[in-house]
Amino acid sequence: MGKGSGFGKVILFGEHFVVHGVPGIVSAIDSTNDAKVTRIGEKITIKDERKGAEGYAEKKKLQQLESIDRMLKAMGIEPETVSLSIWLGGNLPGFSGLGASAASSVAIAKAIAEEFGKDLSNEKINAIAYEAEKAYAGNPSGIDNTAATYGGLLWFKKNMSGGPNTIEKLSIQKPVEIIIGSTGIVANTKAMVKGVAERKKEKPQKYDLLFKQAEELAFMAKKALQEFDLRKVGELMNENHRLLQEIEVSCKELDHLINLARAQGVFGAKLTGGGGGGCMTALTPGKELQEKVAKAIEKEGFEVLRTKIGVEKL
Ligand code: PMV
Repeated sequence: MGKGSGFGKVILFGEHFVVHGVPGIVSAIDSTNDAKVTRIGEKITIKDERKGAEGYAEKKKLQQLESIDRMLKAMGIEPETVSLSIWLGGNLPGFSGLGASAASSVAIAKAIAEEFGKDLSNEKINAIAYEAEKAYAGNPSGIDNTAATYGGLLWFKKNMSGGPNTIEKLSIQKPVEIIIGSTGIVANTKAMVKGVAERKKEKPQKYDLLFKQAEELAFMAKKALQEFDLRKVGELMNENHRLLQEIEVSCKELDHLINLARAQGVFGAKLTGGGGGGCMTALTPGKELQEKVAKAIEKEGFEVLRTKIGVEKL
């Protein structure tokens, strides 16, 4: 049996913009998707025991099968020639926006590699998971699979000419508490990414300006994180959410949770990931603020994950 794990992530700055070459900032979180793979059974069977938003596993099933097909091909294995029994679990919930697709792809790629006796570098696992991400996101930036593979707090910039992406590890003074609130809505990242690309083409002037602002914001956010100016980081998160609203990837449920969090005195809040449902995140330094905000959101019936960004060991 082969085993593997991949980290979940929270995008702090630049989702969607990263697909088009704008830098983004992502932090792995201390929740993983884990996989076990054995070469038995009929064709490819998947037992998905991840806890998730209602309908998550069913809605992702077809994309998941396509992703495994893509992964096997990227590993030089013909999907028709193998029988694989795949188990998926772990403590990263299947809420859209936390990179569960990328985390599971990294976990499965590592488990398949182990089962087939292949010793693959992280770089290779990341490249295989990127192929898998195409099934879920259409035209992914690569930020999710990179965070799922390497962990940590990362500065990421997609290389638009197909060369190696820029991946820089960022260090901050100490880990900072955040909350992640789930709308409970399972979103389709592929459709969200496609929608942005279409609107960008239709309204080039408006979008060029927004993309320029997103780029400036990413650089300011990097500086604020490195200087550990958390008030500034929070302000920039709010500003990032405004840009995401402008490119039409937020929704009323996300805005509702973000407003709720802001009313509790968070440093900043924004949607995280593909939007259109899925999750929001808020910067809540200190256990006390984190708990206060989490409780306020839970009181309204939404699920909350309490975690930290910038944890070194991840
Ligand atoms: O919703 P998620 O967790 O799949 O995150 C998607 C992030 C995007 O920036 C929208 C797409 C990408 O590939 O970067």
